[in-house]
Amino acid sequence: MDKFKILAIETSCDDTCVSVLENNQLINNIVISSSNKQNVFGGVVPELAAREHEKNIIEAYKLATKDLDNLNFSYVAYTNNPGLRVCLNVGESFAYSLAYLFNAKLLPINHIYGHIFSFANNLLPNEIKYPFLALVASGGHTTIFLVKSVKDIIVLNETSDDAVGEVYDKVARALNLGYPGGPKIDQLFDINKATIKFIHHYNKPEEHFSFSGLKTAVLNYINQLQMKKEPIDVVTIASSFQKEIVAMMIKKIKYYLDQNNLDILAIGGGVSANKYLQEELKKLNINHLYIPELKLCGDNAAMIAIYANLLINFLEHNH
Ligand code: KG4
Ligand code: ZN
Repeated sequence: MDKFKILAIETSCDDTCVSVLENNQLINNIVISSSNKQNVFGGVVPELAAREHEKNIIEAYKLATKDLDNLNFSYVAYTNNPGLRVCLNVGESFAYSLAYLFNAKLLPINHIYGHIFSFANNLLPNEIKYPFLALVASGGHTTIFLVKSVKDIIVLNETSDDAVGEVYDKVARALNLGYPGGPKIDQLFDINKATIKFIHHYNKPEEHFSFSGLKTAVLNYINQLQMKKEPIDVVTIASSFQKEIVAMMIKKIKYYLDQNNLDILAIGGGVSANKYLQEELKKLNINHLYIPELKLCGDNAAMIAIYANLLINFLEHNH
């Protein structure tokens, strides 16, 4: 494979990210997050996030390139979809300008495919085993894929309502834990305190994920305590919620592993950082469990660079 350098840009949500990858090796991974500024609104405000990207993108680029000997990028990869349109636009126009400046090829990359392959840092393209099942669970997506190759990715199941991360954030908000809620609930989690059974509709494994029933059950439970002015046991509620939502994901994963006769699973997206989810997945009797490093679970540009690198390699070998 020819040697080449990739500059990658990711601005789909509230993190301004720039990364450089050279010869299959990640050089750096800069993330400037504005999530603390969105905190007060309980979620991401697109226009506010876009303005933060505009403020931060040059700084992120400077940090990502400050130690490089040269800027001879062969490719500028950037997230073009899915994401908040006003936020994507900032990264996209920056990528266009840089590609023009460096006479580099532009590579638009799907954010979700980046999450799927975020585990692949430090693996050479030919070390990844296919086919595998992938779960991407984030603030915007909960999707199970069958991944046959870098280019052949099929959706098997996706949420019909809220994404897992979104439910974590809403439950955390009701418990006054702040945003983003997933890491807070993860920290508080105690399996011995997961004693509440939230009643909600269980769908069949082959049906789409649906988390709004569990979300409503948890929020109603908290509301009722508040109305009756009874104390709210945050750890018990958070732990019971997490035990249930993780069980729902594990159930579907098991089903699709069996259905497709697979024993390799990859996870990605903010929720894949969850310690309890990872523990439960390790109990599955599978050959390979591909888990991204913690810093690559949430949004970052390294995963965009990693996917771009795999794609370039694939196209070079399949012409
Ligand atoms: O992938 P990500 O950084 O951004 C999106 O593309 O959405 O995911 C963010 C989501 C948030 O909803 C956050 O609460 C959740 O991932 N999250 C977690 C954990 N860390 C982040 N959820 C559960 N456990 C965690 N440790
Ligand atoms: Zn994401």
